[in-house]
Parts: sequence; C-alpha cells; structure tokens
Amino acid sequence: DWTPGHFIDQEVAKIRALVGDRQVICGLSGGVDSSVAAALVHKAIGDQLTCIFVDTGLLRLHEREQVERTMGQHLGMKLITVRAEDRFLTALAGVGEPERKRKIIGEHFIRVFESASEEAGKNAAFLVQGTLYPDVIESVSAKGGPSATIKTHHNVGGLPKDMKFGLIEPLRELFKDEVRNVGRELGLPEEMVGRHPFPGPGLAIRVLGEVSPYALDILRRADAIYLEEIRAAGLYPEIWQAFAVFLPVRSVGVMGDGRTYEHVIALRAVTSTDGMTADWYAFPHDVLGRISNRIINEVDGVNRVVYDISSKPPATIEWE
Ligand code: XMP
Repeated sequence: DWTPGHFIDQEVAKIRALVGDRQVICGLSGGVDSSVAAALVHKAIGDQLTCIFVDTGLLRLHEREQVERTMGQHLGMKLITVRAEDRFLTALAGVGEPERKRKIIGEHFIRVFESASEEAGKNAAFLVQGTLYPDVIESVSAKGGPSATIKTHHNVGGLPKDMKFGLIEPLRELFKDEVRNVGRELGLPEEMVGRHPFPGPGLAIRVLGEVSPYALDILRRADAIYLEEIRAAGLYPEIWQAFAVFLPVRSVGVMGDGRTYEHVIALRAVTSTDGMTADWYAFPHDVLGRISNRIINEVDGVNRVVYDISSKPPATIEWE
C-alpha cells in the first residue's frame, strides 16, 4: 500500500545511493512541486543540496521574498537567489507565439542554473525537478514518442540537448494530491503545501502574446487582488487553481464624463483533482463582484474584467 511515509523512506534511500557524495542543485519555483521535491532531497542529502531560485521577472507579486523566507530561513536549506529579470524579458521581447515563449524560457532557465552552480563552485552532478505524472504523460504520447505534445511543459520538454546535469525527478509517478501529502509528511507549512500550482514559464504564459514589463505589472496587481479576495472569502482551498490573465486587447469604457480605452483582465478559477481535466469554478456572485470592482478601481489601465467559463477539455487550464 502506498503511504507518504513509505514513499519518502524509499526515495530517500534511492537518492542517497544515486548521489553518493556528489553535489545536487534544485530549481525552486516557489510552487508545491519543486518545494516538495527539494524538501525530499534535502532530507536525503542535507547540505549536498543547493537550491537555486531564479527571479525570471515572471513571478507573482512578492514571490521571491516569500521563497527566501520559507525555504531559506524556515527550512534552513542552502538557497541562492539569482536575479535574472532583464535576461528573460530581453529574450522574450517581441515574441508572441506560446510555444516559442516556453522554449525560450526553458532554455534560459537551464543556462542560468548552470552558471549559478558554477559560480557557487559546486560542479553539481544532478538537477532536481518537481515533475509530476501528469506533466510526463501530457508531454509524451502513450507510445513513448514525443508526438502527442499539447503544450511543451517547461520542466519536461524545452530543455537544451547539451544539458550537463543528470536528472532527479522523485515525484515523477505522483499526482498532485499525493505530492501534497508527501509535503505534509515532510513537515512543510500548510500555506506552501496547499498552494495552487504555478507553471514554470510563470506569468509569461498569462500575458497573452508579447510579454512586456507594462503588461506584467498590470497582471501582477490584478492577480494579487484576485487571490486576496479568494482567501478572504475562505474559498482558496476548494479551488485547484485561480489566476488572472492579461489580454492583449483593449475595450471601451466610461469613467465620469470620459471615455476610456483600456485593457481587459480575464479571471480563471478551476476545480480539478490532477490538472488533467478541470471544471470552471462557480464563484458566489458577490465575490466575483467584489473582485471585479477592486481590480477596475485599483489597477490603472484596466477597465473591464471577464470570467472564464471554459472547462478542460476542450480548453486547457492556462490560456497558452
Ligand atoms: P494546462 O494549461 O495544460 O495546465 O491545462 C495543466 C496544469 O499544468 C500547469 N502548467 C505547467 N506547469 N510548466 C509547469 O510546470 C509548464 O510549462 C506548464 N504549463 C502548464 C498549469 O498551471 C496547470 O496546473
């Protein structure tokens, strides 16, 4: 029978045998998957693990500070923060096609890792990734070929061929709810274990089309208000994932005597058990109303908020 405790014992033994006395690095994203993967590997090999957190400039509001607090200060892991906002935003400038954006981010990500680990003098032999079972089967067809790709998930596909690390993916056979239980068993705080999933490419796939600092700034502020109101209403735990999307269109509005012509924010919230299928979440109308009012009043450049009522399939959870 599968239990989190049993799974942890087994993986700890496997990781120790594989790694020996070599060094390992792990990319922390701030999400549940990479945090649980890191905590598991940390349990196995302690200070042989160095976590690297890349600020891609595609993170949510105050996300870097949160990761530094929880993983570094609270859990006591070796943690290096790399500020690479300019690099990613420059690489993405003028690129609108979703798969190209994912590819660019994946490639820069691994390169930033390589130089971060070299700079730290580690010469790491392994890289830990929080890949889950649904990531694996959505990126590889049932026959084992790379054909049936729906989206190139940035922690499976999109990695350069000349990558120097061996991969450790201890969560590769688990679903999300199992990963959360493993995290709880490892003593991670509930606010981290219960966190909604966040995609590797970050806000770049939630700014539709070309990514700009201007759009990211609007999206960040709208998204923070959205999640703040969801938490205040006590709805966060029953939603699988909730986030705002910046649409590259403008719509006409009216404010006082004046006409406005500003951006549209789409809100997405879904229920799911594994991310493979999902239903749109039926918010109480008063909560939606509060969220909409606050975003339009508090975020300059937005005059319209719409709610996404598509399920997966045929829509995906993310818009890109
Ligand atoms: P979709 O949009 O494919 O998303 O229905 C399913 C789940 O996967 C997340 N997602 C990603 N996670 N790298 C990730 O680590 C990615 O490139 C990526 N794309 C989507 C998405 O947020 C949802 O939870």
